[in-house]
Amino acid sequence: MTKIGIIGAMELEVEQLKKEMAVKSVVTKAGMDFFEGTLDDVPVVVVRSGIGKVNAALCVQILADVFQVSHVINTGVAGSLNAKLDIGDILISRDALHHDMDTTIFGYQPGEVPQMGFREFRADERMMELAREACEKVNPDIRVMFGRVVSGDQFISSKEVKERLIALFQGDCAEMEGASVAHGAYLNSLPFVIIRAISDKADDSAEMDYPTFEAAAAKHSAALVKEMIKGLLP
Ligand code: ADE
Repeated sequence: MTKIGIIGAMELEVEQLKKEMAVKSVVTKAGMDFFEGTLDDVPVVVVRSGIGKVNAALCVQILADVFQVSHVINTGVAGSLNAKLDIGDILISRDALHHDMDTTIFGYQPGEVPQMGFREFRADERMMELAREACEKVNPDIRVMFGRVVSGDQFISSKEVKERLIALFQGDCAEMEGASVAHGAYLNSLPFVIIRAISDKADDSAEMDYPTFEAAAAKHSAALVKEMIKGLLP
């Protein structure tokens, strides 16, 4: 059965979806409120995970175990690492990795979780394509691209750190949950996609830009999610 788990780290990233859905129940687990119901007749569970990779990982596991979701979507905002991605644009994950995992001393690649054999968690191609089509429909004036999400428990706001994330990981955007959502989805054999609207440039201007553009960016990402999930029904 199709049931889509939709995760946003902050209330701002899920509030519109919660408002528009028909809620059947609210279950609280690990301090997170899981809103189960339908969004345009599509079964969904919408949840604010809280910020950071631990919250995101726990949230995915609860979606898998308790709600038995069939797909996972992570919606929200991110800092741009790619000169082609401006504030307001949207990035759809092709893959995601942990930029703060470092066991290179033992011969692993930067970002590789030891003993997994790879470092990039690949998004589901059908979900990627549906997200792109939905974006062109609901946000026709917004530029959208596929790319790499790099995640860590850090807000990126310096040119030097940004350049390191580009050089080591070829990241297109930086945020704080996506790789954990991807990792958790992978471990539970669930297809996933991450959709992030750009709120800042992850450099010295981020501190100023982020609060200014966060709300509009979060809204755009959520609007896209609402449109794309219709395509996941059988
Ligand atoms: N989310 C939005 N902007 C971000 C940034 N610059 N770093 C980490 N997470 C973010």
